[in-house]
Amino acid sequence: MPRRILVTSALPYTNGQVHLGHLLEHIQTDIWVRFQRMRGHPVVYVCADDTHGTATMLRAEKEGVTAEVLIEQMRVDHIRDFQGFLVNHDNYYSTHSPENEARAALIYNRAMAGGHIFTEQVQQLYDPVKALFLADRFVKGTCPKCGARDQYGDNCENCGATYAATDLIEPRSVLSGSPPVLRSSEHYFFNLATFTRVIRDWLPAGTQPEVANKMKEWLDAGLKAWDISRDAPYFGFRIPGTEDKYFYVWLDAPIGYMASLENWLTNRNDFTFDEFWKADADTEVHHFIGKDIINFHCLFWPALLTSANYRKPTRVHVHGFVTVDGTKMSKSRGTFVDGSTYLKFLRPEYLRYYYAAKLNGSVDDIDINLDDFVQRVNSDLVGKLVNIASRCAGFITKQFDGQLANELAEPALHAEFAAASERIAVCFDADDTAKAVREIMALADKANQYVANAAPWTLAKDPARRDDVQRVCTQGLNLFRQMLVWVRPILPRIAAEAEAFLNIPALTWADATTPLLGSRINAYVPLLTRLERPTIDAMIEASRAPGEGESAVSTTTPSTPVAKRTKEPAVTAAPSTPASISIDDFQKISLKVAKVLTAKAVEGADKLLELRLDVGDHERTVFSGIKTAYNPEALIGRFVVVVANLAPRKMRFGVSEGMVLAAGPGGGDIFLIAPDSGAVPGMDVM
Ligand code: 2FM
Ligand code: ZN
Repeated sequence: MPRRILVTSALPYTNGQVHLGHLLEHIQTDIWVRFQRMRGHPVVYVCADDTHGTATMLRAEKEGVTAEVLIEQMRVDHIRDFQGFLVNHDNYYSTHSPENEARAALIYNRAMAGGHIFTEQVQQLYDPVKALFLADRFVKGTCPKCGARDQYGDNCENCGATYAATDLIEPRSVLSGSPPVLRSSEHYFFNLATFTRVIRDWLPAGTQPEVANKMKEWLDAGLKAWDISRDAPYFGFRIPGTEDKYFYVWLDAPIGYMASLENWLTNRNDFTFDEFWKADADTEVHHFIGKDIINFHCLFWPALLTSANYRKPTRVHVHGFVTVDGTKMSKSRGTFVDGSTYLKFLRPEYLRYYYAAKLNGSVDDIDINLDDFVQRVNSDLVGKLVNIASRCAGFITKQFDGQLANELAEPALHAEFAAASERIAVCFDADDTAKAVREIMALADKANQYVANAAPWTLAKDPARRDDVQRVCTQGLNLFRQMLVWVRPILPRIAAEAEAFLNIPALTWADATTPLLGSRINAYVPLLTRLERPTIDAMIEASRAPGEGESAVSTTTPSTPVAKRTKEPAVTAAPSTPASISIDDFQKISLKVAKVLTAKAVEGADKLLELRLDVGDHERTVFSGIKTAYNPEALIGRFVVVVANLAPRKMRFGVSEGMVLAAGPGGGDIFLIAPDSGAVPGMDVM
């Protein structure tokens, strides 16, 4: 029976770029989604940017743009980076949307009608200069417990004490530096305690045991009412029936999951909103989140949904934090790596694989040990997996014109692999990809052992053993194909390239049990090259913020001044309003998809890389001024768009046969234009 599943990753805040921490979660989710689809289950995977709050408002003000402009630019950046890591959200929306505003109002009104909302006066620190109430992070002062100076309004970094901002000694506003005053205002509260029983009953099946236990401690201590309002000025949605009260960002953020789905459903009829959200839904809803936000997802969210007569999530999948070489990601050490920086140096598959090899369904932190990262990728992916295909394919293409044998050399070995398939599926379903990867790699060892023992290269010397060569290599390629089924959720692009070379349609999980016989394959194309430590070091160097203290680092620290970027010229220095050309002129330009075969720096040129491109029916050399932004090693295997009919240009270093398309102002900010997965070399770009 197919399960119908809605899946979400936590909504990234609008005010920071995508980094290794976000990627852990979105890659984990994407793998789970791709796995479920291969099992034949219809899945919708939605996400959005989490846009509301005082921080967004203040940043927009500082950069001289509207909050709307700011959040839309960040959303475009986020989508670009996630796609770069092959994370395939069906919809990546925004919490600042009409759907979300309407849904938040509806949920609030239902909760209100059910008697779950009340108001109360709250005393809070207020900045009289900036004329706004101060959230804890916007107040600093002396710790009331240990006397350490310059501590935030919620907890002391020196002694660890937690307190209310009003307890600070000599508090001052971070925004204006002036001493805040106490002011009282009316706040809206959601009566969480009413739902204690509901949450208690939901927890055991709703999340991992360690998370459920933590939540139970809170339930046992008694749930306090949740403050869901903030006073104007605030960037968010106004609470219905009020003049100057806004929903706290965490009220409408998870509702953003619903709104993104609703938006995606516009003009579609394969899924419906109600099938996922009505109170008695028989479909599934899965949220993937980090362990820092379990209270919002395992207490507030199920309670809020219940109060508005919606279903509760099927499961909240919780993961830990990312560390690098055993410590917290740090800008000064260069280990706080943004997704866009990573992609300039390394292929996304390396990280996807490494995370998969470490994620085991627990909330333990995931450490990226950089030496281990290099070693694992090389030994597992290049040494074990890809190796089998490259060893066997040559014989089939060269000696048998691509024709696979009609039978396997060792059907029992294929059957042994097939028998592992359900075990591996159980691991994927339970978020234990680490165990799945261990199983797959153990089988990869077996497959390599098989090829080594059968030694087709020796058999090939004896004309009487010709049939055996074909059967052995067919066996090897079939073992490879079985492993491809299992790694496909983790390595979708490599899988697509391998499917093209095996000349087969997209693999499903069931394909691991039936052999591929008698058909014709295409010539083998190298699927992955080795990763070298110096490339990692270059990436770390590029991520290092000189002189920046670690205390300044937080996931919400904006890393790109948005307004500034819009004023910089494009890389080709095009005039801001380009002269128009006719459609006939445009049609003279032939744009084609190409794959980078080799890439190297050009000696004596600061900006040039020499690229050898596969353009489908031929290869050609192009010199491209992208060296300041790309490490040549990382480009091998990447897809680009090339102007194919540009007259060859003689340069100092050789002849350039075309031009590769890229965007950006130059320097480190150059971004290659790449087709989506599925495109193949030689395709016309329309
Ligand atoms: O912690 C965060 O990054 C939040 N922006 C996650 C929101 S998830 C959902 F509830 F919206
Ligand atoms: Zn203290």
